[in-house]
Amino acid sequence: MAGLKLQHIVKRFGQIEVIHGISLQIEDGEFVVFVGPSGCGKSTMLRIIAGLEEATEGEVWIGGRQVNDVDPANRGVAMVFQTYALYPHMSVEENMGFGLRMAKRPRHEIKERVARAAEILQLTPYLKRRPKELSGGQRQRVAIGRAIVREPEVFLFDEPLSNLDAELRVQMRIELSKLHSELQTTMIYVTHDQVEAMTLADTIVVLNEGRIEQIGVPLDLYQHPANLFVAGFIGAPRMNFLKVRAEHSTEKSVVIAGPDFPSRPLSLKKTTSVDLAPGAELTLGLRPEHIKVCEPGSGASMLLIEVVENLGDLTLVHGTTPAGNRITLNVKGFQNYRHADAVGFGFDANHAHLFDSAGSVV
Ligand SMILES: Nc1ncnc2c1ncn2[C@@H]1O[C@H](COP(=O)(O)OP(=O)(O)OP(=O)(O)O)[C@@H](O)[C@H]1O
Ligand SMILES: [Mg+2]
Repeated sequence: MAGLKLQHIVKRFGQIEVIHGISLQIEDGEFVVFVGPSGCGKSTMLRIIAGLEEATEGEVWIGGRQVNDVDPANRGVAMVFQTYALYPHMSVEENMGFGLRMAKRPRHEIKERVARAAEILQLTPYLKRRPKELSGGQRQRVAIGRAIVREPEVFLFDEPLSNLDAELRVQMRIELSKLHSELQTTMIYVTHDQVEAMTLADTIVVLNEGRIEQIGVPLDLYQHPANLFVAGFIGAPRMNFLKVRAEHSTEKSVVIAGPDFPSRPLSLKKTTSVDLAPGAELTLGLRPEHIKVCEPGSGASMLLIEVVENLGDLTLVHGTTPAGNRITLNVKGFQNYRHADAVGFGFDANHAHLFDSAGSVV
């Protein structure tokens, strides 16, 4: 088992810089998820840690040892990829033990380690089968088994579930959580799926265009996003953003107004150096569950309903305000709203997020 330290990692492919100086400390036994949109540098970061790609600048430390010049095979890491290329002509057992056979481990040791991994992954009944005789989820478990038998100090997962159907993904997510509880090994997991990030991670690292936007425990990122990017990326359906203006402000609060609602005060999350002078443009962020439907009229903001999605225990309502703001809100239970209904809505100022023109929370 080992922790990890990345110090000012920069990666350039030719002239193009794709990682712009990432520093990060990962504790021994932690489950860390790198999440971010396609192309933000998640796989590149993982490959740099694995040694499959060289960092242009910066240091990679695994378990107190700088490994920049250490071969991938000797870094104590095992990586599981999205495409879990198994050898089709080998049995599950042979696939899982392949790396150990290459490393010339004694036969009884290979057998023992494969049997233990198979037990953890509930693959024991399938050890003699070939990959084509397995379901997608079972094949992915074999790929994970191949990593487990190496008894790495750090597991690296690059979107290992994205080829599975939705139901299997949920199942495998639970399996991976259990696996981590059982092994207590440091895991770094890459995904662009914020639900996977929220459910699996001890710590989430949100990446965007080769930079870290925010690091935190899932709930903290959800409740206290540091900027517009994280606020929009974490949470589904995503946070609603409305353009508003500052009317006047004190050190601790600002009165905002928008075309869809009358002036109201909001407390500021941090003391800001940003100009909140009257007229300053701000973005108000409201999560769908923090917008309440009420009777129209009497000063309430208006929403013209466009689409209603009844999910049984929850109803998602999508609509547009008279000022053209698009809003999604959710209401508990089955709701009888229809297309073209007009409703009123309000929000609780305690759950409102406010961002300055640079996108930072204020
Ligand atoms: N070998 C390479 N040569 C040149 N550019 C590369 C190379 N590998 C990756 N890149 C670029 O680096 C950036 C980050 O790529 P990376 O594969 O790390 O993204 P990602 O976050 O894993 O995306 P995805 O979610 O699509 O897998 C992209 O802009 C990509 O085009
Ligand atoms: Mg990738």
